[in-house]
Amino acid sequence: MTSSLALFGGTPVISEADPHFSWPPLTDATAGAVLDQLRDGISIYNRSGVIAELEDALQRYFGVQYAVLTSSGTAALYSMYAACGIGPGDEVIVPAYTFFATVTPLLHLGATPVLADCDANGNLDPHDLPRRITDRTKAIVVTHMWGMPAQIQSLKQLVDTYGLRLLEDASHAHGASVAGKKVGTFGRAAAFSMNGPKPLSAGEGGFVLTDDDEVYHRVLLHGQYNKRCRSGIPADSALHRYAVTGMGLKHRIHPLAAAIALEQLSRLDDYLDGRQRIAEHIAEELGELPGVTMPGHEQGVRSSWYGFTMQYDGDSFDDVPVERFHAALLAEGCVELDRPGSTCPLNLLPLFQEPGPLFPAFTGKLAYGPGDYPRAEQIHHATLKLPVWHQEQDLPIVDRYIEAIRKVTEHHTELKG
Ligand SMILES: Cc1ncc(COP(=O)(O)O)c(C=O)c1O
Repeated sequence: MTSSLALFGGTPVISEADPHFSWPPLTDATAGAVLDQLRDGISIYNRSGVIAELEDALQRYFGVQYAVLTSSGTAALYSMYAACGIGPGDEVIVPAYTFFATVTPLLHLGATPVLADCDANGNLDPHDLPRRITDRTKAIVVTHMWGMPAQIQSLKQLVDTYGLRLLEDASHAHGASVAGKKVGTFGRAAAFSMNGPKPLSAGEGGFVLTDDDEVYHRVLLHGQYNKRCRSGIPADSALHRYAVTGMGLKHRIHPLAAAIALEQLSRLDDYLDGRQRIAEHIAEELGELPGVTMPGHEQGVRSSWYGFTMQYDGDSFDDVPVERFHAALLAEGCVELDRPGSTCPLNLLPLFQEPGPLFPAFTGKLAYGPGDYPRAEQIHHATLKLPVWHQEQDLPIVDRYIEAIRKVTEHHTELKG
């Protein structure tokens, strides 16, 4: 039998040269902003120039009192946890399904991450939380996976009931919102990454948001020193005397990165509106396909569409494994269709199974293993992820991807065996 599938020698649907998606959109305005900054200065020690401009712009955009830029999202998370007083002996409930950097800073602080399973969107499942709470639980951390806000109202109710802190890793979800309130403003503090593909990109960078004076001062002390801390921490604060050294770490963002992000931020909402239109188009076109579930989307919830995640159901495809279905799509030219790798349930990673060799001083109990988080593992295994384009002129390539997915679906029986 001959097959029209490209995997078996048929003509691929997509012949356009790749990449088919790139992010962030770098325009003449971005290049101009970087060149201006290059002339203006490439080291900024205090809260001035592009650093102050971007922090002010972030404060306005999110409607929060403080934003502190950092060199990465990982640094932002580390500073946020340290500033919230998390340390040895504390337990922090975290999503089993997230990027590992949501959690690794906790190990450096000596706290024990307690993994919880996820809901159908891959986000922290509020129903799985109560049984994880102990008298050592200090905080709950939520990630908004692939830009889709977590069940934040239920999570907030839970933390209030149990007297805990809610912290957000909003690294996928710049500009996403629930009932008009932006993700990153629901807890005591939030950390964001601005690395390459993030909805708001600086190339490399991150930031912490908070409305809390003490958290703000401690975030400063964790990654800044001298001028920045002396001016940011009031002289009558007990913490002011540490301003010269801070905690001795340095998490400053590069001014050129800040210039890129400042320029991107002015267009973020337009990008997100464009992504929303294209995500709706994909969901409409593929929504009727049996065996491929579109991302859930509730009323009043705005995603940043960092990724468009579909769930593959092998039962509807005569048990064709997802790996083979994906391989068939890659052969059709869908090079941007991804099965996430390093972003996976943390219990599958050696660091969370046996941290001892890398963290000899860690005294907490951490010995997760495969099978511990069935929902997260199942969702991770079944996820096929597309990037979300944002412009009208992207529609032709988007439609080619839709055509390729339809083709492989229609011919799936040829993938058996
Ligand atoms: C959810 C999440 N948290 C944290 C990070 C770490 O951010 P960075 O790479 O800027 O350190 C990432 C990076 O991909 C991420 O996806």
